Amino acid sequence: MKLQDSLTSLLTASSVLSAASASVVVVRNPTVDEVGAEALAVPLTAWKRATAEAPNNYIPTEVDCPSTRPTIRSAASLSNEELAWLPIRRNNTVTAMRNLLTRVNITGFDAGAYLDTHSSNASNLPNIGIAASGGGYRALMNGAGNIAAFDSRTANSTGAGHLGGLLQSATYLAGLSGGGWLVGSLYVNNFTSVQQIIDTTPDTS
Ligand SMILES: *[C@@H]1O[C@H](CO)[C@@H](O)[C@H](O)[C@H]1NC(C)=O
Ligand SMILES: *[C@@H]1O[C@H](CO)[C@@H](O)[C@H](O)[C@H]1NC(C)=O
Ligand SMILES: *[C@@H]1O[C@H](CO)[C@@H](O)[C@H](O)[C@H]1NC(C)=O
Ligand SMILES: *[C@@H]1O[C@H](CO)[C@@H](O)[C@H](O)[C@H]1NC(C)=O
Ligand SMILES: *[C@@H]1O[C@H](CO)[C@@H](O)[C@H](O)[C@H]1NC(C)=O
Repeated sequence: MKLQDSLTSLLTASSVLSAASASVVVVRNPTVDEVGAEALAVPLTAWKRATAEAPNNYIPTEVDCPSTRPTIRSAASLSNEELAWLPIRRNNTVTAMRNLLTRVNITGFDAGAYLDTHSSNASNLPNIGIAASGGGYRALMNGAGNIAAFDSRTANSTGAGHLGGLLQSATYLAGLSGGGWLVGSLYVNNFTSVQQIIDTTPDTS
């Protein structure tokens, strides 16, 4: 069953469940999501935890404490690190954005000409943010389907009427709860593609 295969592949590659799967946690007053996660955690003990793209295969490593003690700053403005990173990321989105926007052919807007005119000044480029919602593993799966459709690495995602390349055009990718499970899983797997996780995880069905 393809959906089940996809489900198990993503769950296998998930950092959250892998962390909890060594022993099953008994939840006292479990929510529906917790019951689902707990039930799914049981067979995960026997599964491979990470894809080949995950550095160190999730093994915790010892690191030095930062020389400057971390502090919490006011979130009223962007950090200096983010401000420095934004033009670099925006620059990296230009080609993908040009391909996507010219392909979708917006009436009355010559996206190619706009981007050609403004690509040398990242301040004039759009910031695209993608947010994956919460909602347990349904949100993980639904978000994964979206991310796969937005990812130009997914086969056939850049054909007419498809949205492949939106992910590559994006500056931000965020997730909450079940969506964070998805984004976190992609992050710890070095931002490999959803399709790659499905294709490379051993079939556990
Ligand atoms: C992570 O991905 C980047 C870009 O594809 C690659 O250069 C790097 O080697 C990868 N890191 C690991 C640990 O696989
Ligand atoms: C874009 O849409 C216009 C109609 O709005 C059409 O005439 C044109 O052929 C389309 N271009 C491409 C590349 O699909
Ligand atoms: C972004 O690209 C423009 C045009 O190629 C270049 O002038 C600029 O230095 C780049 N900025 C960064 C931060 O890489
Ligand atoms: C980039 O565009 C912004 C907004 O239009 C403008 O304020 C800024 O001066 C431009 N920077 C350069 C280097 O042209
Ligand atoms: C991609 O599209 C082609 C042509 O429609 C089709 O034969 C092929 O099965 C599709 N591949 C995937 C992975 O959907």
